[in-house]
Amino acid sequence: MTQFSPDAFTEKYITLDGKPLKYRAWEGLVYCGKPVPALIPPPGQRGFSGEYTPLDSVTNLTEYSYQSLNVYISDDAWNVAEMGEKTPILLKSRIGGYMPCLPEPIIQAPQMALEPVLNRYRPNPFSIFPRALSEGYMIVIPGARGSTTKSVDGKTNIGKAPSAIVDLKAAVRWLRANKDLLPGDTERIVSDGTSAGGAFSALLGASGNNPLYTPYLDAIGAADERDDIFAAVCFCPITDLEHADMAYEWLYNKLADKFHFSTVQKTLSDELAAQYPSYITALGLYNENGNQLNANSYSNYILKLLHDSAKHDGVPANFTLDEHLASIGRWVPVKNPPAFDNLGINTIDDSIHEKGSLENLVFGTGTEDACNFTNWSLQKTTGDNTATLSYAMIDRVYLMNCMNFIGEAKSTNAPHWYIRHGAADRDTAFMVSSNLAAKLRQHGREPNYRLAWGRPHCGDYDLDELFGWINQIIYIKDTRYD
Ligand code: DHB
Repeated sequence: MTQFSPDAFTEKYITLDGKPLKYRAWEGLVYCGKPVPALIPPPGQRGFSGEYTPLDSVTNLTEYSYQSLNVYISDDAWNVAEMGEKTPILLKSRIGGYMPCLPEPIIQAPQMALEPVLNRYRPNPFSIFPRALSEGYMIVIPGARGSTTKSVDGKTNIGKAPSAIVDLKAAVRWLRANKDLLPGDTERIVSDGTSAGGAFSALLGASGNNPLYTPYLDAIGAADERDDIFAAVCFCPITDLEHADMAYEWLYNKLADKFHFSTVQKTLSDELAAQYPSYITALGLYNENGNQLNANSYSNYILKLLHDSAKHDGVPANFTLDEHLASIGRWVPVKNPPAFDNLGINTIDDSIHEKGSLENLVFGTGTEDACNFTNWSLQKTTGDNTATLSYAMIDRVYLMNCMNFIGEAKSTNAPHWYIRHGAADRDTAFMVSSNLAAKLRQHGREPNYRLAWGRPHCGDYDLDELFGWINQIIYIKDTRYD
């Protein structure tokens, strides 16, 4: 484990609003005592081949890079911290697709990608960094092992669930272990992530200090410190994976004809959709007005959230739910059923999808790349309708789902939550985020939750709103949770 060394920084500059902003950088600090040596794939083959992890900017790589982090702070904020006033910490994970994530350096934000989506532009994932620097925050960018991380010899998988959350917790513990040396306030850690990163932000926020993770944390030599955080910022969290298939079909099933599902796909969709009502009932959640969310009321509630979203942006709220669901399908194709726990994992014959989904990769093992993580899909995959997940798998699935830890006695839930899910996002059903928000409300939190109008699957937009919220929770001197 690297000890933070205040003097060992590199001085850097970034341009913000046309002016240079001077900041200090510490990069590649290993955050646990027994990091697992990992294969670093060559540039171009790292991580998720999407926009979230263009990781080739990471230099000075070692076999421990996934379990290391970068620290940044503006010169001005450093000077203030030296006078004794520590600054809040933005823990910004760039995890996407549940894939491995190297600790990215801050780079000068390039121009907004000129890619209109529902008349908006995709946000630039880098623009949060200069903003956070200028706000005076200490930025921490952690790496983490992910679903495709391999041992150095390339033979063993070393990043399967729950490795990534264990790594993020180890990063939080490292911050606390170095708290006297750092300019940041470790009691004001705000985590931020998008999609799989949003799921991890939620899980970090929900599962603080839960002892079920201790054996994993001990195995990588994590510092013996607390790992709860102050606030979780979650953009389109791809979470509650074991219920995400049924949620998805329950929402989109009615439009199966529009999606040209085959007869087999329609049957799968029907079967999954039929499972969701009992899950909603079992959750026992309520909306903001105290009305129960159940299979009868939930469609109207989703429509209300969408209408509120439209109205917030001054758009007429005169559409039906089906109209909205069909219209966003013009932008992003619907996922085929089952959306997350694919059938035919690790088989060649009789597979509906050739390979497993991103999530099947998450639940693989040291030797298997992809595994089923629900009994339903396992039974379809094996053709054995008595097949059940192993206890080991059940435990790993449990440790990846933030919903298990909200209001749970052995977990310290973050006091503050900001959750956004694009109203044009088709990567998971809206109920995944609305259930999260409702469960938090039911356990005494006041999540700032909205479906964000016009937004597809993305995060770190409306930085004025986001930083307004962060500054408010940090500086209102709310002592309720101290
Ligand atoms: C991500 C997107 C997905 O659709 C998914 O199933 C998992 C992760 C992502 O962007 O991180």
